[in-house]
Amino acid sequence: MGLLDSFIEWLGLRRRDVNVLVIGLDNSGKSSLLNYLRPKDAQRNDIAPTVGFNTEHFQCKGLSFTAFDMSGQSRYRSLWSNYYRTTNGIIFVIDSSDKTRILIAREELQQLLIHPDIISRNIPILFFANKMDIRDALSDVGVSYALGLDSITNKSWHICSSNALNGDGVADGIEWLSSAIKSSMDQAR
Ligand code: GTP
Ligand code: MG
Repeated sequence: MGLLDSFIEWLGLRRRDVNVLVIGLDNSGKSSLLNYLRPKDAQRNDIAPTVGFNTEHFQCKGLSFTAFDMSGQSRYRSLWSNYYRTTNGIIFVIDSSDKTRILIAREELQQLLIHPDIISRNIPILFFANKMDIRDALSDVGVSYALGLDSITNKSWHICSSNALNGDGVADGIEWLSSAIKSSMDQAR
């Protein structure tokens, strides 16, 4: 990118296009979180389980996001890795109230972290400990412990409690991800 392009971006006259991959087990709330990021008049009340994947668009901090909202059902999880190479960031969503399946989420995370297209890249990962509104849901600290996040030392990561139904925690998480993606893209220049 030339000096003029950098200057135009710095002025906020042009947004940078970035891709994010939204993954996590089925029923964790991925599509609901993305629905919350839509303009109020475009939000849907009827979110069905995703088949394959859908794309959504939103903007934050001078970045124009294309989000790949992947299905979390086991038969579709093999699709996730097709998008690893081209993604600028990852949103990993966990149902904090689903304690019986958190170990499966941990296994899926381990598979992600050792994938050749991910392992050596400093790709930012935002974890949403979603469904914080449900009684007895794990806290963000509890989810972090259950997933073993402390062992991720070569990537920027952050965990936020969220409620996709009323949006609590969503903006904080997306703002962190935007800043982290900007830093990693600037470092790669
Ligand atoms: P797949 O597309 O099958 O992978 O699921 P998903 O991760 O996209 O989940 P989805 O957004 O379809 O939400 C699944 C269910 O959880 C829906 O009934 C949502 O209304 C509900 N849900 C999502 N987020 C929350 C939340 O923060 N709190 C509560 N209580 N329910 C939620
Ligand atoms: Mg979905």
